[in-house]
Amino acid sequence: MHLLMREGAVLPAPLPVTADAEGARLLADVYAVQLPPSGAHVRAMMNTTIDGAIVGADGTSGTLRNPDDSFVFDVLRALTDVVLVGAETVRTEDYRRPLGRADLLTPSRRPGGAQRPALAIWSRTGELPPTIEPDWPTYLITPPGEARLAAERAGVPEAQVIIADGPAAAVRGLAERGLRAIQAEGGPSALGRLASAGLLDELCFSTTHRSVGGDSSRVVRGEAHELSWSLASLVVGQHATIARHVRR
Ligand SMILES: NC(=O)c1ccc[n+]([C@@H]2O[C@H](COP(=O)([O-])OP(=O)(O)OC[C@H]3O[C@@H](n4cnc5c(N)ncnc54)[C@H](OP(=O)(O)O)[C@@H]3O)[C@@H](O)[C@H]2O)c1
Repeated sequence: MHLLMREGAVLPAPLPVTADAEGARLLADVYAVQLPPSGAHVRAMMNTTIDGAIVGADGTSGTLRNPDDSFVFDVLRALTDVVLVGAETVRTEDYRRPLGRADLLTPSRRPGGAQRPALAIWSRTGELPPTIEPDWPTYLITPPGEARLAAERAGVPEAQVIIADGPAAAVRGLAERGLRAIQAEGGPSALGRLASAGLLDELCFSTTHRSVGGDSSRVVRGEAHELSWSLASLVVGQHATIARHVRR
């Protein structure tokens, strides 16, 4: 892969991003999270095809994955305090032990300094697959009124239940637990809730160099919103083009 843009500026010459520890360190610097003085920073990260699909024919994003995309994804997971996802994503994709590249874990590059990111799952029902480990730690974000039942179903201890009546309360609940660098990995409806509440600071999308047709959702879905973004960095590989947009 090559880095073409960084911090909003086009590089005089494309910089090689090697598929090794050195390339990972370079991207970790490019994508380092700048936390605000208080509260959280929320980065969205998902992959999509050139024709805008977020899942392949098997109904998961697994078939869209490729070496370029996986490399960047693994770097970004090493920079975040918590991976935030909607429950449908957890029921569809493999969310056991999200971690990040081993060679970026020591010393930790997460703003909170933990060795691994927490997992936070947005769910009303608490219906999670048995592969989810409460001790990872895993947080359940759920609306008031349904919290007790949802927590019971999910098997998440009370201290790890964040009762939130909307996206702002969800983000605040994570920040209050020291999880201030948030990576929202989907799905489209979870990103849509964050976007329409004005809570997304960054959109990082990996565009896989394929088209799949079908009737897949767009990458962000839900209430209409109007937001403007600036292209902050651009990485181009054989298999994917990976862009980071920041809020203007
Ligand atoms: N291409 C990619 O990078 C990528 C990444 C992630 C996901 N995906 C794909 O996206 C699809 C899933 O996305 P999605 O948008 O349908 O679902 P989602 O955002 O992953 O999850 C939706 C779930 O969020 C919960 N929820 C909704 N509103 C809530 C609220 N106000 N409070 C608490 N919880 C709430 C509900 O869970 P309960 O039903 O448990 O109540 C709902 O079913 C899958 O096909 C997955 O493969 C693709």
